[in-house]
Amino acid sequence: MKVGIDMGTTSEGTSASLDIEELLATRLLVQGNSGSGKSHLLRRLLEQSAPWVQQCIIDPEGDFVTLADKFGHVVIEGERTDAELIGIATRIRQHRVSCVLSLEGLDVEQQMRSAGVFLNAMFDADREYWYPVLVVVDEAQMFAPSVGGDVSEEIRKVSLGAMTNLMCRGRKRGLAGVIATQRLAKLAKNVAAEASNFLMGRTFLDIDMLRAADLLGMDRRTAEMFRDLKRGSFVALGPALSRRPLRVTIGSVETSARSMSPKLMPLPEAPQDVADLIFTPDPEEFTRPVVRRTAPQPRPASDILAELSRPRPEPAAPVEAKPAQPEISAEEREALIGSLFAEIVANPEAAFRPDAELYQDFLVRCRIRRVPGTALSLSAFRRKMAVARSG
Ligand SMILES: Nc1ncnc2c1ncn2[C@@H]1O[C@H](COP(=O)(O)OP(=O)(O)OP(=O)(O)O)[C@@H](O)[C@H]1O
Ligand SMILES: [Mg+2]
Repeated sequence: MKVGIDMGTTSEGTSASLDIEELLATRLLVQGNSGSGKSHLLRRLLEQSAPWVQQCIIDPEGDFVTLADKFGHVVIEGERTDAELIGIATRIRQHRVSCVLSLEGLDVEQQMRSAGVFLNAMFDADREYWYPVLVVVDEAQMFAPSVGGDVSEEIRKVSLGAMTNLMCRGRKRGLAGVIATQRLAKLAKNVAAEASNFLMGRTFLDIDMLRAADLLGMDRRTAEMFRDLKRGSFVALGPALSRRPLRVTIGSVETSARSMSPKLMPLPEAPQDVADLIFTPDPEEFTRPVVRRTAPQPRPASDILAELSRPRPEPAAPVEAKPAQPEISAEEREALIGSLFAEIVANPEAAFRPDAELYQDFLVRCRIRRVPGTALSLSAFRRKMAVARSG
């Protein structure tokens, strides 16, 4: 069945049609600098195609939850356990319900983990549920970064693996990736390369422009035109869009984004007692905990080198042969571990450090306090940490 949805108007004054069935087979990459209109474009695509195809949106900012009211998308909050996410993703495929995975308010690592687990579960659905789904990922460079960043290697692998599955192997399983990115140079090459359709918006940086020119098979001088595009204008190319580069102005949308572009507003009249207003504290302020978001200090290289050059400790002798640690009861051991968690959580920086780092910290504390028995695994640590955090 051929269904062409209307994305807006072309520079030739005709309607810009996007062939949904072709899109399912050939995927789409949208790129443009911040404010160029990518999220607006995705919203137009989602609204127009909602009656025709199941949709799943990976939404880092919680912007697309407004689709729920008009089009019945189920909103899934991303702050869940892996098992919950897998169960929900599996049922989303079984029942063919459109959904928005809202990752608003989570830290980057949690966003990557939730998106990775959810997408992998959609990918792993039983063969009988391989119905077509448009999987839209906004800010895709976050989930498929071209280089490792501050996040742990384990999380990066999960998220990048899921995005690679989506774009490289998803088609046979009914998954059609539509990904949008601000910075093409920051998006993993193998993920970008699998899209055959492109909508290129305003792009300033040379490095992004060169990547765009390479992907589109354009010479670099022609790609200069991406610099002059206005907000909401994109160059379309690909089997589902146009056989040759075509300028498209994206049409209007029915639902609204939750975040808007900043608008200039007149400042309020300055009251006489402005200093009073600012320096008189609100009594409630004293009851609120003070949370300072400071980045953890990088470890000096000399520290790391010293650690690497230290000889590896001898493996611990078996407990029966030589009891190195004092015997304590199971309850005492639990209480001791509980107090270690409380110490970790009490440190305000703990909220901003990845679990893997906190786990190392925990193991060191266990050694210092001579906690007997086998150490907790990372997953058991995470569970207990979640309990400790929630008090
Ligand atoms: N075609 C359009 N018609 C009307 N308004 C538009 C159009 N495209 C974008 N806008 C408006 O421009 C603003 C920025 O657009 P949008 O949020 O889509 O940018 P973006 O590329 O997703 O930016 P970011 O990368 O920072 O998320 C929004 O307020 C949006 O409503
Ligand atoms: Mg956006």
